[in-house]
Amino acid sequence: MVDANYATANKLKVGSTVTLAKTKFTVIGIVTQPQASSPPEVYIPLARAQALATDPGTGNSINVQHETPIYRLAGVSKIYRKGGREIPAVRDLDLEIRAGEWLAVQGKTGHGKTTLLQILGGLDRPTRGRVEFGGQDLATANEARVRKVRASSFGFIFQTFNLVPTLSAQENVEAALIPLGVHLAQRRARVAAALDSVGLGDRAQHLPGELSGGQ
Ligand SMILES: Nc1ncnc2c1ncn2[C@@H]1O[C@H](COP(=O)(O)OP(=O)(O)OP(=O)(O)O)[C@@H](O)[C@H]1O
Ligand SMILES: [Mg+2]
Repeated sequence: MVDANYATANKLKVGSTVTLAKTKFTVIGIVTQPQASSPPEVYIPLARAQALATDPGTGNSINVQHETPIYRLAGVSKIYRKGGREIPAVRDLDLEIRAGEWLAVQGKTGHGKTTLLQILGGLDRPTRGRVEFGGQDLATANEARVRKVRASSFGFIFQTFNLVPTLSAQENVEAALIPLGVHLAQRRARVAAALDSVGLGDRAQHLPGELSGGQ
């Protein structure tokens, strides 16, 4: 059983599945929240909860971590159109990625790895399907929202450095904070701390061409 708030937040209805402690449960009913302020809850048989809990305790309420995926992709396709031809790069992909999970995308050349990474990174949108990140659909969200998610939640390590050659090390790092609307003084402080943390504090004014490859 799930309560009404939980059901709404997770788009659940009777017959949907909920994953708790790596175990799938089918929703058999939705109950009204006992108090408007109480946290959303899922009710499972006590014996099952005790079997799943790391510390079963003695009460009639056990907290079992609900592993909501960070990403939930459903029916994602990307079809490029080029000279009247359709090139399906990603076809009808369902994928869930959980907190702390490491994922490597492997496959033959031209089979859509970069396309998928660009979709996951909010750099491109699928032709069809949902790309839920933290509960919002990046496939349909407006560009300002996607930009915000990209600036605050994603990190990219490119094969090439992609540094702007005419900007100093400090300005290159700072460029990543501008879309977040961080004020100048705070921006400078964060950049200085970041450069210091990798031993580049005294190279802040160097251009990329004046740094070593590792630096
Ligand atoms: N902008 C584009 N317009 C048209 N077709 C494209 C475009 N970008 C990629 N493709 C095609 O989509 C398919 C998937 O390309 P993608 O770059 O995702 O492959 P990949 O798995 O990253 O390959 P590689 O291992 O070579 O990097 C390829 O067949 C490619 O030719
Ligand atoms: Mg690629």
